[in-house]
Amino acid sequence: MKNYKILVKTNQRSYPVIIGKNISLNISKILKENNIYFQKCLIIYDNKVPIKVLKNLKQKLKNKKIFIYKIKSSEKIKNISTVNKIVDFTLKKKFHRTDLIISVGGGIVSDISGFVSSIFKRGINFVNMPTTLLSQVDASIGGKTGVNSIYGKNLIGSFYQPNLVLSDIEFLKSLPKREITCGYAEILKHALVRNKKKFLFLNKNLKKIFNLDEKIISKTIYESCKIKKDIIEKDPLEKNFRKVLNYGHTFGHAFEANLNYSKKLNHGEAVLLGMFCANNFAYKKNIIKKNDFNIIREHFSKFNLSNKIKKIVKKNDLASVINYMKTDKKNYNNKINLILLDRIGSAKINNTYNATDLISFLRDLLIYK
Ligand SMILES: NC(=O)c1ccc[n+]([C@@H]2O[C@H](COP(=O)([O-])OP(=O)(O)OC[C@H]3O[C@@H](n4cnc5c(N)ncnc54)[C@H](O)[C@@H]3O)[C@@H](O)[C@H]2O)c1
Repeated sequence: MKNYKILVKTNQRSYPVIIGKNISLNISKILKENNIYFQKCLIIYDNKVPIKVLKNLKQKLKNKKIFIYKIKSSEKIKNISTVNKIVDFTLKKKFHRTDLIISVGGGIVSDISGFVSSIFKRGINFVNMPTTLLSQVDASIGGKTGVNSIYGKNLIGSFYQPNLVLSDIEFLKSLPKREITCGYAEILKHALVRNKKKFLFLNKNLKKIFNLDEKIISKTIYESCKIKKDIIEKDPLEKNFRKVLNYGHTFGHAFEANLNYSKKLNHGEAVLLGMFCANNFAYKKNIIKKNDFNIIREHFSKFNLSNKIKKIVKKNDLASVINYMKTDKKNYNNKINLILLDRIGSAKINNTYNATDLISFLRDLLIYK
């Protein structure tokens, strides 16, 4: 099967993203090809990733000194205290900045590992091996790292690009279907904000994507990463244009925070619901064309979102949801900033609204009975 390779170029660092079946088994060779030399290696490992992945990695890196730090992933442990524990562990084991941290896990493990890598002796080598669909198409590339605070999601962090991203599609086979939906949300987001042709590809191949058809899923991951690469290369520090990647996230993050990051609503599910809201809001404000609004609505109908959102956001939650939307990092002058589509493949960034506008929109959308 064909492997795909993308080179992400940023001022901080240029690095390859390699996508393929069983590529993790070639890790040793790939590290050498990319001039990543080290003595010690810390593998930060999501404990739901099947143990055979860890066994294989240990075997392939057997001539190095390997340490394992296992994580039971959840938004609740994605915090500064976990970061402290890992940094202490790494210092205790006398790691040098020329050694290596490898993240093996989903977006939670990769956000934590990337942040640890960025602050450990002001930056240690970092390789990302994303194991969820969401992290393969999104969280593993672009260099945003960080953790949550009691004041909100991802409020503590840094920009730190990895030296290499290895996305092995074999890892996806152990994922629950719910996690495939989460990854699909970010894939859909990339297409909606940047490329109508890619959206139409998704619409046509939805079933094959969810069945992890190897050819289609590899191509889908590759195309999605390419969109992200183009965006982050234009605006690596999210000064302006990169904000389009937050499409659906202002609503989504608020839904997650309102549920106190409970497992009831995963990040990707929140983003899917967030995009559903953003599409409706853009239509209400006459920003998106009717035809495109309907095409997106039809696509969303396959996920039964209008019923799901009512289970997630109750009438009494509206004020709290809006309060969380107000704390979003994109806001300024007390207004809520939303990324909205004016057509499929084109996102508009600076749309500001006040809280009462949004409360009345959500109330109408949800029509509680
Ligand atoms: N840095 C970024 O640019 C960026 C972008 C998008 C999302 N994120 C962050 O990513 C996080 C969400 O990532 P996620 O959706 O990957 O969640 P996650 O890391 O929690 O993983 C989802 C679930 O899958 C399990 N898992 C991971 N790999 C597995 C495998 N191969 N087989 C079976 N189970 C496996 C995990 O233990 C977890 O229960 C959020 O915290 C979000 O803020 C960051």
